Amino acid sequence: MTVEEHRFEDRDRLIDAVYRQITAVLEQALAQKSRASLAASGGSTPLPLYRRLAAAPLDWSRVDVALVDERWVDTGDDSSNERLLRENLLRGNASAAAFTGMKNDHPDPFAGEDQCNLAYAALEPPFDVCLLGMGSDGHTASLFPAARGLPEALTRAAHCAAIEARRSAVTGDNLARMTLTPWSILQSRRLILLFTGEEKWAVYRQACRADATAELPVSLFIHQDRVRLEVYWAP
Ligand code: 6PG
Repeated sequence: MTVEEHRFEDRDRLIDAVYRQITAVLEQALAQKSRASLAASGGSTPLPLYRRLAAAPLDWSRVDVALVDERWVDTGDDSSNERLLRENLLRGNASAAAFTGMKNDHPDPFAGEDQCNLAYAALEPPFDVCLLGMGSDGHTASLFPAARGLPEALTRAAHCAAIEARRSAVTGDNLARMTLTPWSILQSRRLILLFTGEEKWAVYRQACRADATAELPVSLFIHQDRVRLEVYWAP
């Protein structure tokens, strides 16, 4: 298990540290090759981070931004992660970045999986940075416990997998999802897990104790030796 924990007193310091980490990695990648890439999660926690990244003085015209996961709703819908990224990250300096989303015109994510995989294959991952979030149910990306499609997502050697989550307080109405697979996420050069609050810290500690991937999917990224998991947390 290769986990590096960074704990902060407050969320401003947390966001500042993750901002500095991500910009440093992207800058270094851009110095070494023609393009750099960032896979970004949805959720409310990274919003202040995305707003800061939008103004980062990087050569965003050489950066590919892609989603870690998506809710299967219209890209104009309030709960669309693509919309969240467009409104918060892909603005200002970062509006020059190339963006790859997951939602396509297929009626459900299972029907849209092949097309999504083609779009992601064209990006030629590995991602330089993959930013994960975590829910209080132990999900990360859209790898939800007991979801339809989870066993396939956990074992598939492809970038994207369709998910139908079980309804819970965490999922709300957004049950149909597309997610990056662990196969894809674990190829990332840097893997960051960003979450806040004591409740989620307790879930994370529980996931650290034993590899319980089916119950707490975040566990899979803690108990692996492929890439160091950089955990960033504040109360
Ligand atoms: C999504 C996400 C998801 C998110 C967590 C945390 O679309 O739901 O990408 O994996 O990162 O649910 O969300 P919060 O930051 O809002 O708690």
